[in-house]
Order: sequence, then structure tokens, then C-alpha cells
Amino acid sequence: MVLSTAVLAATVLGAGLAGAAAPADTVVAVAMGLAPVQAVPTNLVGFSIEVPDATEMIGKSPDPPRLALVNLIRGLHHSELQAPTVVRAGGNSADESVWNPDHQALPPQYKITYNITAADLKSYQGFGNAMGGRTAFVPDLSFIRGHDFAWPAAEALAINNSISWSYIHAVSIGNECDLFAQNGLRKPDYDYSQYKAEFEAAAAAITAAGLPAKTIRGATWCCFQGTFNEAAFADYASSQAALLRDISYHRYPLSHCDGHTTTLEDLLAPEASSGQADKMRPFSEGAAAAGVPFVIGESNSVACGGQEGVSDVLGSALWALDFLFEMASINASMVNFHGGPRGIYPPIKFANTSAGMPPTVQPLYYAMRVFSEVTAAESRLLSVNVTQTTNSQVRVWALQGVGKTVFVVIHKDPSAAGPAAVSLSKLETSEPDTAQLGTLSAPGGATAKSGLVWVGLTWDGTTDGTPSGQRTTTSVKRSAAGTFDFSVEPASVAVLWA
Ligand SMILES: *[C@@H]1O[C@H](CO)[C@@H](O)[C@H](O)[C@H]1NC(C)=O
Ligand SMILES: *[C@@H]1O[C@H](CO)[C@@H](O)[C@H](O)[C@H]1NC(C)=O
Ligand SMILES: *[C@@H]1O[C@H](CO)[C@@H](O)[C@H](O)[C@H]1NC(C)=O
Ligand SMILES: *[C@@H]1O[C@H](CO)[C@@H](O)[C@H](O)[C@H]1NC(C)=O
Ligand SMILES: *[C@@H]1O[C@H](CO)[C@@H](O)[C@H](O)[C@H]1NC(C)=O
Repeated sequence: MVLSTAVLAATVLGAGLAGAAAPADTVVAVAMGLAPVQAVPTNLVGFSIEVPDATEMIGKSPDPPRLALVNLIRGLHHSELQAPTVVRAGGNSADESVWNPDHQALPPQYKITYNITAADLKSYQGFGNAMGGRTAFVPDLSFIRGHDFAWPAAEALAINNSISWSYIHAVSIGNECDLFAQNGLRKPDYDYSQYKAEFEAAAAAITAAGLPAKTIRGATWCCFQGTFNEAAFADYASSQAALLRDISYHRYPLSHCDGHTTTLEDLLAPEASSGQADKMRPFSEGAAAAGVPFVIGESNSVACGGQEGVSDVLGSALWALDFLFEMASINASMVNFHGGPRGIYPPIKFANTSAGMPPTVQPLYYAMRVFSEVTAAESRLLSVNVTQTTNSQVRVWALQGVGKTVFVVIHKDPSAAGPAAVSLSKLETSEPDTAQLGTLSAPGGATAKSGLVWVGLTWDGTTDGTPSGQRTTTSVKRSAAGTFDFSVEPASVAVLWA
């Protein structure tokens, strides 16, 4: 059913929105056909944790696997058909961590800050068991030595001999190697061609240690450095495709590095979501041309640990949800959010990492939860035509799941004077006459660090990672004009299952 804008607008204005404050904004959107994008992977949301921190998060042997984290990851699974959630163990610490189970003396010229031992690998295996195989790790191996790959080969062999490969999504080699010329891990003239030769030698060494076919996460670049450009990425993807499970670029829209500060307004601006998709699109296209899945292997709101009041508030969840849709819209297969158990920006924190201590579930986790729920079935993005809007910071996404259309409205303008009157429809209507509406919000608004509630559920005060509250949605009846009309508060998310 095609309705004219005038008819739709009249419907909204006439709807009355009983009990709600006068709408400050009006948004009318129509879901069209399928967007030209791959199906959204059911495990698009994932985690990234520094190497020494990873075992603290999952529970370090001889401590048992951490039940709260098991439950929180299970909270991202809504169907037995969902692929395992990926937990990457990497970051700058990857190059500084070596498999050194017997605490051998190491060459002093290399900065090694963590010895990986049998207890680490036992912890991964134990966590994989506790998850019933519903997680898979990406251990990031050390690439600190450029002409000797015995260290990553030894770790790969240790993994082969102590962890089920079904619990390993891939291994990667080095972290943000495009920065090696700047950060002193290589000589100042280090470029893509030198990197490529080293990568090939390292890949051969770890393959000989028992790595199964296509079990490498490639690249792990981050920062648009010199010769490590889009063309190099495409060359890498096509020349190494036979080795690669996927290929990774890291992306943070904002930075707190070197004393730089940022604001929540910056995080909610289009540059931090659609602007990032524009930057990543050429890399994704290069990967696609080689048939290699493209992943954002490390991400979060604000690089260098996050910023208080920006990375740890409801606003960061609004950003993250929009960012996840933007990344899905350029065919990213995964986004691994970085951090934990400490710091400002992680989705999940532990103030005390002793066994059995409670987690702090941060706003970012709620975004991961909402995204995983709306994309749990084989779902495809629909093209959305926003035919009328008074506020472009109210974002509308639509998904076609199995027998269901799902609309996601993200109100990213906390300064709006009142709720937005939203009117949604689908070009070819096959939805039922009644849809279910669920929301994510917090009484404290965009700057709330706690008090978040998603469809009646909160993880505030959880001890074991399960939420409290009753799952609550409300019914919305289709109007005579064929639209679903409802209001969306500033700094909230509304999901309509039609
Ligand atoms: C995403 O994948 C679809 C389907 O394979 C393709 O048509 C589209 O060009 C891809 N987009 C990008 C940005 O790679
Ligand atoms: C790693 O083991 C070596 C050899 O025992 C030791 O010298 C070094 O301090 C250890 N490193 C860390 C960070 O514990
Ligand atoms: C890797 O593990 C498998 C199964 O445990 C074993 O058969 C194989 O010999 C191992 N590979 C190496 C290189 O040790
Ligand atoms: C962490 O919890 C353990 C177990 O309850 C306790 O013994 C320890 O003192 C706590 N550590 C801190 C820093 O509070
Ligand atoms: C989107 O809606 C506008 C306003 O109704 C209309 O003019 C335009 O043709 C629509 N775009 C598409 C792609 O259908």
C-alpha cells in the first residue's frame, strides 16, 4: 500500500497520542524492499578484551568459568540457531604477551608484559565448555619480532594441543600493525610490502603448528596509515584469501588519546555513525571483492579507554545501536566492542574480579542486547524511506526477519523539547494489524549511567548476569491509513515488531 506523505502526516497529527506530551518532532518512514546488503549475521555483536584481561573476565583457572559472563553472553542468544558469540583476546597487549609457560628468560630488547601460560589456555577451554560451544575466541598472537615467528608458532601449537578448535573462531597476528613504524615495533620505513612478507612467513609458521585451514583473522589495522591504505587492504584480502576466516579493521569514532577530550554531542552526531560507515565502506568492498568477511575487530565509542560521561552513559548505547546498524549496512560481519574488566567504556565490568563477584552491566551491553535480539533470526535490512522528518537525529532502521518486520527507532537527540511522533509503515504490507512495541530508556536520560530498562528488564544489581523485571511490551494497532503511530521519547530506543 502506497500512501502519500500528506495522508501520513495527517494521520500522525490526528492520532492525538493520548497522555503523551505534545510531540516536538514528526517522523514518517516507509520500509521499502530489501536493502542491497548481506543478511545480518546472528553473531554480529562480539567482544574484544586485552590478553591479560581476557582470562580475568572469563575466570582464570583454577577459578571456574565466570557464571555472570556466561549468562551475559547467553543473554545475547535468542535462538539455538545463532552462531557463537566471538570474544577476541587482543589489543596492544597482544604483541607484548608471549606463550611462556615455564617462565623462561626472554630477550630483554622486547617489551613483554605478560607471560601466557597453561592456565590461560585452560581458562579458554573451560569457558568454551561452560558456554556449550556458544562462544568462540580470537587469540591475537604476538608479532613483536619481525623476522622470527617462533613465538606465535609456539602459542598456536599450545592452542592446538589444549583447546578445541571449535572454540576458536580464528587467530590473528599482531595488533594495529599499520602503526608499527610509529610506535617503535618496527623501523620508521616499515610499509605494507614489508608487512605482507612478514605476515606470509608468520602465517606459514603458525599453520605448520597445527592451525586448521582458514583460521586467521587478517590485517587488524586501524588508522589509515601511509601505505596501509584501502588498495593495500584489498590486495591483502585477495592475496591471502585462502588463509583468512575474516579480515579486520579497528574503528573508534572519537578519541581520548593524548589528552584529547570529546562530548556526548559528538558521539551522537552523524559523523560518529554514518560517517564511520563512509570511512569503512572502501575496506569492506575490498574484502568483499576477495570473498573474505569484513569485521570491525575492535571498536568502542572513544579510543584510549573511553571518556567518562560519554562512553558509560545511555547515550553511548544510542550511538552503539546506530553504529551497529551502520556497520551492518556496509556488510560488516562482526563488531567486537573492546574493554573489561576495568575502565570506562566496557560493556561489562567487574569491580572485583574474584570468583563469584557481581558484574556491572554498562549501557553498551544494552545496545548489544537490543541488536542481538532484533537480528536473532536470519534477518535482512530493508531500505527505509524517511518521507518526512523534523529531526534527522531520530534514526529509523527496518529489518525483515522470518515472517516479521522489525522497526528500530533510535532517538539520538537528547535536547529535543518532547517526544517524536513516529509513523511507520511498510510498502508491501503483510504485517498483522497489531504490533508489539518495546523500549530502551532510563529515567536519567542520555547521561544516565544506570537505571536503564529494556522491555521491562534491567541488569542493574544483577549478581549472576541475568536480568530482573518482567518482559513488557505494549500493543500498537495499525491505523486506518495503514501506519503504526506511536511516540518516542528523546534519548530512547523504540522497537516495533510487526
Ligand atoms: C554488500 O553486499 C551486497 C550483497 O552481496 C552487495 O550488493 C553490496 O554492494 C555490498 N556493499 C558493500 C558496501 O560492500
Ligand atoms: C615473564 O617470565 C619471565 C621469566 O620468568 C620473567 O622474567 C618476567 O618478569 C615475566 N613477565 C611478567 C610480566 O610477568
Ligand atoms: C594438533 O592437535 C592434533 C589433535 O590433538 C594432533 O593430532 C596434532 O598432532 C597436533 N599438531 C601438532 C603440529 O602438534
Ligand atoms: C574481592 O572479593 C574477594 C572475595 O569476596 C575479597 O576477598 C577481596 O577482598 C575483594 N577485593 C577487593 C579489592 O575488594
Ligand atoms: C521517498 O519518499 C518521497 C516522499 O514521499 C518520494 O518522493 C520518493 O520517491 C521516495 N523514494 C523512494 C526511493 O521510493
